[in-house]
This record gives sequence, structure tokens and C-alpha cells, in this order.
Amino acid sequence: MLKHLKLTNIGPADTALEFGTRLNLITGDNGLGKSFLLDIAWWAMTRKWPAEVNPKLTAGKIALPTDKKKKAEIGFSFTGVSKTKANVIAFEPRLQSWNIPRGRPANPGLVFYAMADGSFAVWDPARNYWKTRADDALDRPPAYVFSPKEVWDGLQRDDGSWLCNGLIRDWASWQKEKGRALDYLVAVLASLSPSSAERLQPGALTRISLDDVRDMPTLKMPYGQDVAVVHASSGMRRIISLAYFLVWCWEEHLKAKELLGEEPETKTTFLIDEVESHLHPRWQRTVVPALMQVMAKLTTSAKVQLIAVTHSPLIMASVEPQFDDQQDTWWDLDLVRHQGNRTPTVVFSNRRFVRLGDVSRWLVSEAFDLGSARSLEVEDVLEQAAQILSEEVIDHAKAKALDVKLRTLLGDTDPFWVRWRFVGEKQGWL
Ligand SMILES: Nc1ncnc2c1ncn2[C@@H]1O[C@H](COP(=O)(O)OP(=O)(O)OP(=O)(O)O)[C@@H](O)[C@H]1O
Ligand SMILES: [Mg+2]
Repeated sequence: MLKHLKLTNIGPADTALEFGTRLNLITGDNGLGKSFLLDIAWWAMTRKWPAEVNPKLTAGKIALPTDKKKKAEIGFSFTGVSKTKANVIAFEPRLQSWNIPRGRPANPGLVFYAMADGSFAVWDPARNYWKTRADDALDRPPAYVFSPKEVWDGLQRDDGSWLCNGLIRDWASWQKEKGRALDYLVAVLASLSPSSAERLQPGALTRISLDDVRDMPTLKMPYGQDVAVVHASSGMRRIISLAYFLVWCWEEHLKAKELLGEEPETKTTFLIDEVESHLHPRWQRTVVPALMQVMAKLTTSAKVQLIAVTHSPLIMASVEPQFDDQQDTWWDLDLVRHQGNRTPTVVFSNRRFVRLGDVSRWLVSEAFDLGSARSLEVEDVLEQAAQILSEEVIDHAKAKALDVKLRTLLGDTDPFWVRWRFVGEKQGWL
């Protein structure tokens, strides 16, 4: 699990972050470096950039220095390891790579990374291997990194051997075997479902093409049909691929640990970009609490650290009952204009998590910085109306004109009408 990250001369701004051992939320405007931060977190734990492992990826490329003439560094440390050591790794301009020291680094535990575009990466300390010597004979994959297509169809090595069968083949064979993997899958799908009434569950296997010999898994839909997983909606595909990877990784991890004669891993870190991606508000409310609990479906001893990027006020509101300052953090990225400086800078703030209750209050909070939860036109007309109401002598003609505008824009039950009508009727301009 990740304890701290320190970025010097890379990305939109230098920063140092301390992560909580459980839930870590990251908010901020587009383009301020949230996904980049997840890439760095993944790299710190695995020592490989996602696109370095799998060149098919369009994101997750090696981080390059901002100012080429200055030193660029990434500092990090892990929790739950025997010695908490701060690592600082510098960029080597001549090699155009990060100068990773030799030797096996501390084990951060299992790492899952769900990227915004549907790519997925898994790192398993039992199966992925760091070369410790140049003449190391073991040739193990440095991580399992899947493009969105490979999630479904499987991951092959350059020599044609299969690293992972992919969701379609594995799910179908688990279903035929009716063993532990199927039990895990059913449990994980149920736990990540939007509600007990809309439970994700496997349907009967089917075929979708004369030219595709694979048995195709299906999902039972609430409207009584079994729909092939490749035809499922975007939101469902995102969640079922997450469920599949959890089960695939855990199954393979258990087998590997058995072979090695070691106990299974207890620490897991999930890095999830745009955690609400494609999900209806009902599902947005349950997804983060469910992710915090989901490893318990696979093992009783797991500790899960979640680092999740979100653009959703519903996600923020949904974790209010769980949020605990002792083990959770909220990082917010903002563009800040400093006095006397024309160019704004990106600032990472460790915000205090205050329970705001209502989702619209989250929209106008530091997390999303909106002026109001209404349309821009309504926000503008209400500002004008508030200005009129604050004047000592109200210009009746102006107020009447604005009243006409308010009637076209504001809902009949809007609470603002109470104050507007009270003043208007009292002063006689309504
Ligand atoms: N490989 C890289 N090397 C150096 N800096 C990078 C690299 N990739 C991204 N960045 C920095 O990160 C910024 C993009 O940030 P990022 O994609 O993380 O935004 P985001 O906050 O996730 O936005 P959105 O909400 O739109 O997804 C770039 O403008 C650049 O400054
Ligand atoms: Mg992003």
C-alpha cells in the first residue's frame, strides 16, 4: 500500500502527498493531473509504466520532466512493509528513463489499476517479477497490463503464449467447472451490484456468431433476458471487468502462493480513475462503499487501500457515513492564481472531509467549486435578483423586468420565490 508520494519537476506541479491506509479520494478540474497521479502511484508500486509494459495503451506513458534542465524525482514509501523506507528515484536524461536501483524493492501488496478508458493493470507480487541482477534467468512478466480489447479476449505474449485467457474464456470455463472461481465471481458481482433488486448475475452461456467458437457468458437482465457480456451496457461492462480481474487475480494468486509454499497476500491497493464512469446515480451511490468491502468476498484477511479519482458529487456524498479521518484522505487539485503572478499554478490540497449531506452542497463545495447547482443562466439571473434585493432603494422598473426573466427561468417551487415575492408585494412592484 502506498504511504507517500513526492513529485519534483514532473506533471503540472510539484507536490507531496500522504495517503490514508483505506479510502483516498482525488477531485479536481480537467487536466490538472489526477490520472497522472494514479500513473505515478502505479509506477511507484510496480516500477513499470503501464504503456511500457503494453505499448497498445494510449495512456500511462513514462513521466517526463517538466523542465528538461532541472532534476526530476519521484519519492515514495509503502505502509505495511517491515521497514518503511523512503525511496527517491531520479530521471536519467541520457537514458530517457527512471534510474531504478538494483535489488528487490519492498512489496506493496497486490495492485489493481482501472484506467479511465477501460484499460486495466494488475500487479501480483507472487507472479510479477523484478529483475534483481542483470543475469537473472527468470523471465517473468513485470505486470499484467490489458488494453480494453485484451480485457475481453485475453493477453498474449510476443511468443504467442497466453498470460491471461480474458474475461470471455475464463468466465465461461469457470461457469462450466462450477468451482471456487464461479462462487467468487457470483459473490463479487453481487457485492458490486447497484442494489439487491438489480443484482448482477451470470446467465446461461450462449454463442453470438457462427464464426466465434467461444461460449459467451451472459448477464441476467431484470427484464428477463440473458444478454451476452459483450452486448452489456458500458456501466455494466466496466463493473464486470473489475469483478473478473479481482477473481482472476485472486485465483491465480492463490495458485501461485500454493506453488511457492507461502501464505496469500493480505494487502491490496485499488487505483481507480473516474470511479463513477458510466454509472447511473443509483450505482454511483453504492460503488465506492462496495469496493471498500469487495475483497472480503475473496478472503477474510484482506486490507484494501482505495485511491479513487472522481468528478462526481454523488461519490463524495456516498462515502459520508464511512469517511474516517484516521484512515481516509481527500486530495483536491485546484488552479490557483497567486497575487502578483499572472500564471496560475496547480495546488494539491489535503481537504478536511466535512459531511455536507446534500449532493448539491457538494457541487458548490471546494471539491467542485461551482457557483451554484443550477444552470449558468439561472445562476446569473439570481445574482442580479440578489443584487436588486440588496439595494436600499429598489428600482421598480428594473425589478419588474427581472421578474419576467425569473418567471421564464426559475422553477415554480424554487425557494427563492418566497423572498422575492415577499419584498415585491411589500414594496408594490409585484
Ligand atoms: N507522461 C507524462 N509526463 C509528464 N507529464 C504528464 C504526462 N502525462 C500527463 N502529464 C501531465 O498531466 C497533465 C494531464 O493530466 P491528467 O490527464 O492527469 O488530467 P486529469 O486531472 O486526469 O484530467 P481529466 O479530469 O480530464 O481526466 C498534462 O497536462 C501534463 O502536465
Ligand atoms: Mg483523468
